[in-house]
Amino acid sequence: MEGEERNEMLVTPWEVRGKVDYERLIKEFGTQPITPTLLERIRRYTGELHIQLRRGIFFSHRDLDVVLDLYDKGVKFVLYTGRGPSGPVHIGHLIPWIFTRYLQEKFNTRLYFQMTDDEKFLVDDKLSLEDTRRFAYENALDLIALGFDPEKTFIIFDVKDIDVLYDIALEVAKRITYSTARATFGFQESTNIGWIFWPALQAAPCFIHAKLTGENVPALIPAAIDQDPYWRVTRDVATKIGYYKPAQIHCRFLPGLGPGGKMSASMPETSIFTTDPPNIVKRKIWNAFTGGRATVEEQRKLGGNPMMCTIFQYYVYLFEEDDAKLAERERRCKNGELLCGECKSDLAERVNRFLEEHRKKREKARDMLDKFYIKR
Ligand code: TYM
Repeated sequence: MEGEERNEMLVTPWEVRGKVDYERLIKEFGTQPITPTLLERIRRYTGELHIQLRRGIFFSHRDLDVVLDLYDKGVKFVLYTGRGPSGPVHIGHLIPWIFTRYLQEKFNTRLYFQMTDDEKFLVDDKLSLEDTRRFAYENALDLIALGFDPEKTFIIFDVKDIDVLYDIALEVAKRITYSTARATFGFQESTNIGWIFWPALQAAPCFIHAKLTGENVPALIPAAIDQDPYWRVTRDVATKIGYYKPAQIHCRFLPGLGPGGKMSASMPETSIFTTDPPNIVKRKIWNAFTGGRATVEEQRKLGGNPMMCTIFQYYVYLFEEDDAKLAERERRCKNGELLCGECKSDLAERVNRFLEEHRKKREKARDMLDKFYIKR
């Protein structure tokens, strides 16, 4: 493949490639930017804005304004998000989940969380059903460790819980043609037929609350923008089967530690998994691509470039909550006071502290898992 082609942006639920241009995605996917007016409407209910909103990490939406209009009138909403359990969780996955937890707390609302052990079995030749089911339970521990409310959080393990999804998935599937699915998801002649039906199953939890409780309210889906194709087809079907269109709030990708691209489990050396021991975390961060200069002398003289530095992005996304301290780090980098070595070892320490706490909570979650099972 030519270099230029390799750098061509591609964002699908299964692959993200090239430099992601988020403005262009808003136009191409037909979503809406999150405006200051919308942020102010959220702030009215939450009191404070989460760093992921303040820093534009959640940058785009569909119908968030509609959900807030309804909320103003007393119509609640439910949250829906998920995970494709193909291996251990990395800190990129935690980004939308941490935000989802904040929304659950501030809006006191239910979360439906889908573990797609079926999807990952269908799309990955190397994984058996046994593998994906095992990862689903392991990944659920990472979710629970983030502090979701057991009274209000319902994890759907697709294979085990298919009975709660199947009738809704059928209603959806009947209304999506093969030609729409192929155009949306890029299916080929060689795609297995399980995968072709599968998008109907990711659509189903958008409507599950109405089925379980009889209460017809919209679902709001926080996730990175790679999942958007699913919602495009689901939204077309929703009103035809008597439900609200699901709304979305989209985040950017936490970058991998290499030059460009999202953090992705398929590139383990540039991803930090929640199960990585401290020395591995240190090594991965130490080898990261930064915005630093070729030599210390040059860096002292000319300063670094935090805008193209993966390490700096980790502070922005998760590891420096204090806006003033973040600005100070940026200033010190740009004027050559702060060198990459110090910035990396600071980050490694913070990431390891975070992961150590996370793993303690993750172990405790083993005893709580059954509280999160979806009830019929
Ligand atoms: P999966 O397992 O690929 O990803 C889980 C969630 O993590 C987001 N994500 C990221 N966010 C920030 N930075 C990254 N580097 C990064 N990589 C992944 C994804 O957008 C997703 O929100 N098919 C889905 C599972 C699913 C789902 C859903 C996801 C089922 N229902 C509803 C979101 C909402 C999947 O394989 O996700």
